[in-house]
Amino acid sequence: MTTPAGHVYVSRLLTDGAMARLRALGLPLRIGDDNPPTREALAAGMAGAAAAVVTLTERVDADLLATAGDGLAVVANVAVGYDNIDVAAARAAGVTVTNTPGVLDNATADHTFALILAVTRRVVDGDRFLRSREPWIWGPRMLIGLDVSAGATLGIIGYGRIGRAVARRARAFDMTVLASTRSRTSGDEDGVRFVDTGTLLADSDVVCVLTPLTPQTRHLIDAAALARMKPTAYLVNTARGGVVDETALIDALTAGRIGGAALDVFENEPHVNPALLDVPNLVLTPHIASAGEATRDAMGILAVDNVAAVLSGRPALTPVR
Ligand code: DGY
Repeated sequence: MTTPAGHVYVSRLLTDGAMARLRALGLPLRIGDDNPPTREALAAGMAGAAAAVVTLTERVDADLLATAGDGLAVVANVAVGYDNIDVAAARAAGVTVTNTPGVLDNATADHTFALILAVTRRVVDGDRFLRSREPWIWGPRMLIGLDVSAGATLGIIGYGRIGRAVARRARAFDMTVLASTRSRTSGDEDGVRFVDTGTLLADSDVVCVLTPLTPQTRHLIDAAALARMKPTAYLVNTARGGVVDETALIDALTAGRIGGAALDVFENEPHVNPALLDVPNLVLTPHIASAGEATRDAMGILAVDNVAAVLSGRPALTPVR
């Protein structure tokens, strides 16, 4: 690789495997720390950079791209979702944007399924109950949940790579699987039936949100969508917080209009609406669906390899188009 004029800016410490790949580039580096950079630190790190490796906690907009300067060739996001980046502004500035599709499908599907089982089988309720130190004895009516494997229906909104990985797991649990996508609302494929989103919401015992956050999908799950769900059904979101209207979800859970929910993502991360902490039948995790050891290495390494490709004059491996 010919040495570019600028440095490679890395907004946050990545995993050891990814940091090793980064150092192996042999390029001048400016590396942030464990915490997200302030806006000022981000701008300072990107100023004069040839490449930036950022995470979903960094907002890369037109102003930031302008302060980076003309030498910036690539912004590599360490995530498959890229709603934190103004891709149109980057394109206008001649900057390639890359993301990390493919390498986190299984980890994210595993966590999605962990949340499905945790909320439907009341794993967290059980844990909390035992820690309350109340006396207990086995009971036929105790902590009863949904029989996932007895023909329950899973509805997947957004049937991309991760949706397919969730569907594979659901089929192994003998679930009926429905899916809805923008482009497909009928037909069958690999044991999955495609329906429109309204039908999916009405017919599913578990609704799983796996669609990217775009202006079209913001608050896709609003009060009206929640009202279409069965009163016993569960909502699981491992995509982006903004796809679900949190206020409407809080209302629905408080009023017992749906059976429960599990969220790995939040509308205003890292802020978690305090009302979410008090509503019943809700399992929460802090945006960790892709946090498998090998997966997080693979995400960082793919981001670094995208930087290496672009700085060498080759096409990016996984460009955002
Ligand atoms: C992604 O890749 O978009 C995930 O949300 C990060 O874990």
